[in-house]
Amino acid sequence: MNETIQTILSRRSVRAYSDRPVPQELLNEVLTCALHAPNGGNHQEIKLTVCTDPEILDRIRRLAGEEFRKMPLVEGQYMNVAIRNATNQKEAYNFTFRAPVMVIASGPAGWPNGMADSALALGTLMLAAKSEGLASCYVNQLHWLNDNQPMRACLAQLGLPREEEIFGTVVLGYGQEPDRPAAPRKPDRVRYLRGES
Ligand SMILES: Cc1cc2nc3c(=O)[nH]c(=O)nc-3n(C[C@H](O)[C@H](O)[C@H](O)COP(=O)(O)O)c2cc1C
Repeated sequence: MNETIQTILSRRSVRAYSDRPVPQELLNEVLTCALHAPNGGNHQEIKLTVCTDPEILDRIRRLAGEEFRKMPLVEGQYMNVAIRNATNQKEAYNFTFRAPVMVIASGPAGWPNGMADSALALGTLMLAAKSEGLASCYVNQLHWLNDNQPMRACLAQLGLPREEEIFGTVVLGYGQEPDRPAAPRKPDRVRYLRGES
C-alpha cells in the first residue's frame, strides 16, 4: 500500500485537540492543497477563511451555542444533533473541539457547485493535514448558521462578508485521540453498469 492510500484509509475525524499551534508553514501547505482541489469549471470561486485566534474561536463557539439553544427542535431535522448538544452542554458549546485552527469554505450565495467545490477543497485539506501528522474534523455548524443574523454579523465584523454562503468548515490541529480504525463500511455500495453479454 503506498503512502497516499495509507493516508486516505487512516484519516479519521478527531474530536480532541492539544493547544499546540500549527506552524504557519504547515498551515500554508495544507491550504495550498485545498486550493488545488478540483472545482466545477475551474471557476475557483470558493474562499477559505482561516481562524487561528483562540479568543475569536471561543467567541464563535459560544455564539453558535447561544444561537442553537434558541432554535426549536423539529422532528426528523438533521440539525437537531447540534441543537441537542448545545442545549445539553453546561459549558460553552464545543463544536470546534477546541482545535487551534478553523477553516471556513464559502463562496457566492447560490453558487451551483458551491457545496461540491467546498467539500472537495476541505476533503483535500483534511488529507493533506493527515499526511503531515495533523488531525481534523469536518464540522457543519456554521453551514447550518449560514442565515443566522447574529452569527453572520459576528463573522462579517471579523472579515467574512455576509453576501458569501458558508458551505462547510473544517477544524484542525494536533490530535489528542488514539488512532482508531474506520467504522465498518456498509456493503454493496459499489456497482458496475454492465451491458448484456
Ligand atoms: C458533510 C459532513 C458534515 C459533518 N459534520 C460533522 C459535525 O458537525 N460534527 C462532527 O463531529 N463531525 C462531523 N462530520 C464528520 C463525520 O461524522 C465523520 O466523517 C464520519 O462519522 C466518519 O468518520 P471518519 O471521518 O472518522 O471516518 C461531518 C462530515 C461531513 C462529511
